Amino acid sequence: MGLLIWGPMFEVGVQEIDRQHRTLFDLANTLADAVVQGKGPEPLGSIFNELVRYTQTHFALEEQLMAQHGYPATAEHKAGHQELVRQVSEYRQAFAAGDSAIIDKMLQFFTSWLSRHIMEIDKSLARHLKQKGLS
Ligand SMILES: [Fe+2]
Ligand SMILES: [Fe+2]
Repeated sequence: MGLLIWGPMFEVGVQEIDRQHRTLFDLANTLADAVVQGKGPEPLGSIFNELVRYTQTHFALEEQLMAQHGYPATAEHKAGHQELVRQVSEYRQAFAAGDSAIIDKMLQFFTSWLSRHIMEIDKSLARHLKQKGLS
């Protein structure tokens, strides 16, 4: 079951960012598959952790590029990242406290947030980076 299907409309045109977005799609789909397969709390928790960890790695890369290339909308973009991390961390805590059904809600939230964020916010960033010569 693929919740998120990668397609050209998600490409922002900066290779490393696109590569990481694809990995985020894969991780979200892996977690969704594990739920469907009825995996227990331990394997689910470890994929969930990996998704949170990689999301933070990815945001750190974008934020580093914003800083390096003087991106004017850095503050708003970073605030969006921070809010996502805050919400996903709340889901993670609820899951750790025994609410396993929360993963479905988290995935719905995460996948719709991610696709919208890529299409609007990351594409604006990528336009700026491409003007600065990145590809
Ligand atoms: Fe972003
Ligand atoms: Fe991104």
